[in-house]
Amino acid sequence: MRIIPFVLSTETSKAPKHIAIIMDGNGRWATLRNKYRTSGHKAGVNSVRKAIKQASEIGVQWLTLFAFSSENWQRPEKEVSMLMELFTRALKKEVPELHENGVRLSFIGDLSRFSDGLRKRMKTVEDLTKENKKMVLTIAVNYGGRWDIMQAAHRLALALKNNLIKESDINERTFEQFLSLNDAPYPDLLIRTGGDQRLSNFLLWQAAYTELYFTQTLWPDFDESSLNQAVEEYYNRERRFGKIPNHVKEEI
Ligand code: IPE
Ligand code: IPE
Ligand code: MG
Repeated sequence: MRIIPFVLSTETSKAPKHIAIIMDGNGRWATLRNKYRTSGHKAGVNSVRKAIKQASEIGVQWLTLFAFSSENWQRPEKEVSMLMELFTRALKKEVPELHENGVRLSFIGDLSRFSDGLRKRMKTVEDLTKENKKMVLTIAVNYGGRWDIMQAAHRLALALKNNLIKESDINERTFEQFLSLNDAPYPDLLIRTGGDQRLSNFLLWQAAYTELYFTQTLWPDFDESSLNQAVEEYYNRERRFGKIPNHVKEEI
């Protein structure tokens, strides 16, 4: 196992290119404080701001945040509408600064379930920031890994029907052109806050070889140093991708 000291300024080349985060634990954070769950979601917005800034400092080029899953519609109506309101508000409030800082925004998920107004807003934000080069920030909303694979299968079937692709050309590389995040490398590191150790239907295909990092820290408590800690742990992981370790000599 390699132990590389964590020095932000010199470690940028080894920095994970793509970090994905399951931002979990807002509800418990609020409950612990005898507050409504929605106040946890509000507090979580500050952590989003901190994570974006710190990821950019570290040299991360793609940051993908799980904001709302396809299954989260099953929550109480009030909580869902509050989450939508927070999302809409954050879009208005945060975008100018993100744009100024060279962040390109993108949204993945089944956006058809959102109101016309919100969909338009997301499209405007994507268009406004599309030339930005510092970092790509992808927000997963009404996203599910199974949905992603299914929608890719549907689009592939359509391409096949329209003779845009031959059956013999279907392989992992061509299939994933139809998936979300098709212009990003696979996530190097996936962080889940809140203590649970599961993917909850996030990036099922893309995270096949991603390093997983679970922390008890609840999302509203996750700050710059929490992200540094996760990245530090990532530096100490050995990624083998099914091969034998680099330093081990082949037996003859
Ligand atoms: C994550 O926090 C935010 C969303 C899923 C939208 P939770 O609301 O799931 O918080 P816990 O897991 O109940 O504490
Ligand atoms: C995952 O958290 C989804 C997001 C963080 C947006 P959940 O709280 O919905 O996941 P489960 O229900 O604990 O698996
Ligand atoms: Mg949760």
